[in-house]
Amino acid sequence: MAVRVDLNISLDGFATTTDQTPENPFGDDWGRLVSAYVATRTMQERVFHDTSGAGTTGVDEKYASAYFEGIGAEVMGAAMFGLHEHPNDPDWRGWWGDEPPFHYPVYVLTHTPRPTIEMANGTTFVFLAATLTEALDRARDDAGPRDVRIGGGPTVVRDYLRAGLVDQLHVAIVPILLGRGIRLWDDLRGLEADYSVMSEVAESGTIHVTFRR
Ligand SMILES: NC(=O)c1ccc[n+]([C@@H]2O[C@H](COP(=O)([O-])OP(=O)(O)OC[C@H]3O[C@@H](n4cnc5c(N)ncnc54)[C@H](OP(=O)(O)O)[C@@H]3O)[C@@H](O)[C@H]2O)c1
Repeated sequence: MAVRVDLNISLDGFATTTDQTPENPFGDDWGRLVSAYVATRTMQERVFHDTSGAGTTGVDEKYASAYFEGIGAEVMGAAMFGLHEHPNDPDWRGWWGDEPPFHYPVYVLTHTPRPTIEMANGTTFVFLAATLTEALDRARDDAGPRDVRIGGGPTVVRDYLRAGLVDQLHVAIVPILLGRGIRLWDDLRGLEADYSVMSEVAESGTIHVTFRR
């Protein structure tokens, strides 16, 4: 059982911009950051419910299909779930519609907890204010022999990395420069010393770097 992270970041290390508005909830650059990932067959099927087999099948797809494999529970931050954009909407159920791609319990770290949401396809969103290890223990109990993902965003991932609680970090480094936003690597000097590191370049130009304990 491992604690895993998978993130898309720009060449200059940003995992998200901070220009989101109610009219433009993902910001101007989100499409550029995730386009190669979204184009894969796995993401087309799992996120957009396109079962026609459409989507790319190269190196990016290899990582996209591994993304969901063997995960039994997830921890994510309040902002990734959308609570910072929808703080006063008790009916907000996340970005992913009625069939979120998770199919397992998702623990959303937030200082303003709300009732658990059970989706029809096995995804459960549980909201909690807890320490990193308390949230991870809850997720581990649910995941059993399977892995736990720290889903994002970069603030929560960085916290888990700094605490030494991540066994496998996969970053898809997209060859674009965002120049602004929240950087993944801040305050993580020397992180690589605790891992073996492997890189692979995809047809899209994305560099997949995997840190494994
Ligand atoms: N590039 C990628 O692959 C990727 C992946 C996932 C997400 N994202 C993007 O990342 C962005 C969000 O990331 P972010 O770094 O801004 O925020 P985030 O990590 O999603 O959430 C941070 C927030 O979580 C809550 N929180 C964190 N630790 C907590 C604890 N121990 N107890 C209780 N609450 C806790 C706090 O919110 P409160 O105090 O308000 O409750 C905190 O401000 C989104 O735009 C999303 O699209 C990118």
